[in-house]
Amino acid sequence: MTTEYFETRCLGEYGHYVAPLHMLLQDASLFLGLDDLTPYQAEMECISRASQGVHPEEAAILYGLVRAIQPKLVLETGTFEGYSTTQLARALYANGGGRLETVDIAEDTGFRVPENLRHVVTFRRGMHSREMVDILAAGHDRIDIFFHDSLHTYLNTLGELIAFSPLFNPGCVIVCHDAKMDFKEGFGVGRAIREYAEAIGLEFAVLDTTCGVAVTRWPAKPDKDKLESALESLRIRHARVAADERFVSKAKRLARMFGRR
Ligand SMILES: C[S@@+](CC[C@H](N)C(=O)[O-])C[C@H]1O[C@@H](n2cnc3c(N)ncnc32)[C@H](O)[C@@H]1O
Repeated sequence: MTTEYFETRCLGEYGHYVAPLHMLLQDASLFLGLDDLTPYQAEMECISRASQGVHPEEAAILYGLVRAIQPKLVLETGTFEGYSTTQLARALYANGGGRLETVDIAEDTGFRVPENLRHVVTFRRGMHSREMVDILAAGHDRIDIFFHDSLHTYLNTLGELIAFSPLFNPGCVIVCHDAKMDFKEGFGVGRAIREYAEAIGLEFAVLDTTCGVAVTRWPAKPDKDKLESALESLRIRHARVAADERFVSKAKRLARMFGRR
């Protein structure tokens, strides 16, 4: 698959048209080198969208990916009401194996997930996504699909990608929601996934869904030393941006204080 194909078919820099579902599924499968995902379209149920949940075509992509990849472990950050959780769980159920870990800082999450799917899901409620690293590492768990849908700032998205990278299995598929929303204040998923993929040398595409679904794939045979040095450079960049942001917000606070006097 050529890069030019994805520059025209998938999203370059935040398009404004949503591709039809079968094209999105074709793009995802071609880009990730998977079997055709379009047959799974027939299995996709329409569940009405939660207020902040993923859109139907985005849920369909998640469903198709889980069916095609047959993961042992899926990690989702940002459960919310459980709209995407339901689709991921339905696909695992249809696969007849695999489990989903989903984490949210809020306590009352995932209530839309039907009772008959709950046995494939572990809800980590009231927990910051990055606390999951220790839990998974302690259980020697490795991730086959990672889905980011928590706080969409640049720092949080990049922070999650860096933190979970040591737990990615070779060939792990990484999916980030809201990748074309960077024009909105507080959003930086597009920038985070681009910098991450570039630093590690991964190709990535942003599928032209309502909010943009970024997909990339961890190498099948990762070069450990190369990856560790790429991750270290990302950690340094992350720390520098975090320090800059702290500095700017402190300066703003001071300016407000003096302005009031
Ligand atoms: C956009 S909603 C997720 C939507 C959900 N995936 C769906 O389709 O129904 C974002 C969720 O991320 C949670 N969140 C925000 N920051 C988080 C963090 N650092 N760790 C875990 N969850 C977080 C919020 O509480 C919120 O429920």
